[in-house]
Amino acid sequence: MNEITSFTLNDYKASADVIRTRTRHRPSIGLVLGSGLNSLASQVQEAEVIPYAEIPHFPTPTVEGHTGRLVIGRLAGAEVMVMQGRVHYYEGYSPQQVTYPIRVMQFLGVELLIVTNAAGGVNPSFHAGELMLIKDHLNLIGMGGLSPLRGPNNPALGPRFLDMSQAYDRSLRQLARRVARELQITLHEGVYACLAGPAFETPAEIRFLRLIGADAVGMSTVFEVTVARHGGMRVLGLSGISNIAVDDPDTEASTTHEEVLEAGNVVAPQLARLIIGILARLPHGTGGRP
Ligand code: HPA
Repeated sequence: MNEITSFTLNDYKASADVIRTRTRHRPSIGLVLGSGLNSLASQVQEAEVIPYAEIPHFPTPTVEGHTGRLVIGRLAGAEVMVMQGRVHYYEGYSPQQVTYPIRVMQFLGVELLIVTNAAGGVNPSFHAGELMLIKDHLNLIGMGGLSPLRGPNNPALGPRFLDMSQAYDRSLRQLARRVARELQITLHEGVYACLAGPAFETPAEIRFLRLIGADAVGMSTVFEVTVARHGGMRVLGLSGISNIAVDDPDTEASTTHEEVLEAGNVVAPQLARLIIGILARLPHGTGGRP
């Protein structure tokens, strides 16, 4: 499926207006919580909750582990808009639908996006339950021709040809590394490869991904990051390594969604500590420029 879902500026504005009328907060920081990583939302204070189904055009998650609501409030003193769950291309949504909430964040004045996901470890030194700071990504679905930016470009939203040389902000990565050291959290840094899914990779595909420079693999994030950058946001990306991807068909090892969600229980508390530590060190009200 390679259709373009066209949304208009009025669509984004209508969604942003609904959100604005339902919260007193004016967040400049957005968070996307991936599979099994929902729990951070429960730490948001003065929280106002809006189910995606009550926001015009918002796509609603269809898979377990994705709650499907916006939680807006304060986290470590910063005003944040948290997406508790996201949708994926494999659910049948177009790249434009997958990234619709990111555009709405842009309309609401979000300047910094923190994206999280559950990912399979491709780098042999990684262990399940550890965290990886995303340094860069391999957009393998994008290379196949899919992009949320495909179709006419509206210069009011961003440039036709988008620079992706620093998709994941260098100074935010530096800050994340520093906070992880202070909090004694193991934080790998590496390249996230995105495939369309929903089938997990074959062992040959995992060996291929390793060969082309991937450290972790998943089925999300890259479209959202592309649109966030298009909209001028700075991005910090964190992967929870939920499983070690199987690279040899002659072993008993396998990968299941249950395993991914269970590992989320181990990863989520560390991820929450790290994100709260990062937010606490950002100057507030500035879009979090470190
Ligand atoms: N592969 C792809 N996506 C994933 C994985 C994986 O091993 N684990 C969590 N998301």
